[in-house]
Amino acid sequence: MKKNTRIFHISGSDNGDHLKEAGRILREGGTVAFPTETVYGLGADALNEVAVMQIFEAKGRPADNPLIVHVDSKESCMKLVRSIPDKALILMDRFWPGPLTLVLERNEVVPDVTTGGLDTVAVRIPGNRIALELIRHSGTPIAAPSANISGKPSPTTAEHVLHDLSGKIDAIVDGGEVVIGLESTVIDMTSAVPAILRPGKISKEELEMYIGEVIIAYDDNVHHVNETVRSPGMKYTHYSPESRVILVEGEHDRVVSRIKELIVDFSLRDTKIGLLVTEETENIVHADISYSLGEKDKPEQAAKNLFIGLRYLDERNVDIIIVDGSFRPDGIGAAVFNRVRKAADMIIKV
Ligand code: TXA
Ligand code: MG
Repeated sequence: MKKNTRIFHISGSDNGDHLKEAGRILREGGTVAFPTETVYGLGADALNEVAVMQIFEAKGRPADNPLIVHVDSKESCMKLVRSIPDKALILMDRFWPGPLTLVLERNEVVPDVTTGGLDTVAVRIPGNRIALELIRHSGTPIAAPSANISGKPSPTTAEHVLHDLSGKIDAIVDGGEVVIGLESTVIDMTSAVPAILRPGKISKEELEMYIGEVIIAYDDNVHHVNETVRSPGMKYTHYSPESRVILVEGEHDRVVSRIKELIVDFSLRDTKIGLLVTEETENIVHADISYSLGEKDKPEQAAKNLFIGLRYLDERNVDIIIVDGSFRPDGIGAAVFNRVRKAADMIIKV
């Protein structure tokens, strides 16, 4: 059944009434998309099975892919889990509210639908005023995956959410463009050595400064891995626009030469090309249409521009998107590479 999706525009410090109303919709079992500092999430009451099922339905998300539960305080997190290891407490104190999701042992208040049947639950306090007020008004923990159709790039504006989910959800809280542009770092705190399941703004090095050794348990280079992955979300196709995506990775000069060759090849075949390239490359290479990833030495700019750029080019019906993989791979750059490799149909290393 098609829903009438309400839109609440939030500006400045007012609009408490909008957030109250959106909170009421959540409390009564509805679905509301809202901004966080990372990407827009599609929220529902994490403790209400029927409400959570609507998230899976709206996104077309596989039922075994668990959701992140968003809370507004540590106390609220305590109510969802059996215990909190010391290292998890350290991370909460240092990084919450913020783009870090902790996987902890869940207790029985969290329904199976929310965790995809796992005995763990992923939790975070988002670092965004609108998200926090909305959670507070709802009076319940909010399960929220990224607010995109499953498999598509995550939304960084309310327009992206509308494009994917209009008519499928009860409301959208429009708080403008997000700050970071890539989803949170996910770390499993239930194993002896904590394991990063998904890279994000908070890097391995940063985590290790506070809790010592951390291992990496994700694999950038595998598109469809087997069933035994620790984070079920990692086994599905991700972040993919309709257009074919070709990623060219390597040192800047070589990437530029290879992109130039690809443009010549595809032009001969009458293919409409979109470029998603660093500023440095954009100054040298030209195609039908292009979108800037920002300066190659500032991976936080690539993080902010990646999903928005993929959607921008896709909407202009290019056949091929060529992505410039010459930006710095450290810090949040590691997370950008992770997402773009998963989105790519083909990876060329030069
Ligand atoms: O920044 C974010 O994390 C955004 C905003 C809205 O908070 N949310 C987000 O949710 O990216 P989603 O559902 O798109 O990604 C959640 C990831 C998936 O890869 C999922 O498999 C993993 O977290 N995950 C969730 N619960 C888990 C659990 N109990 N054990 C292992 N992985 C889990
Ligand atoms: Mg997602």
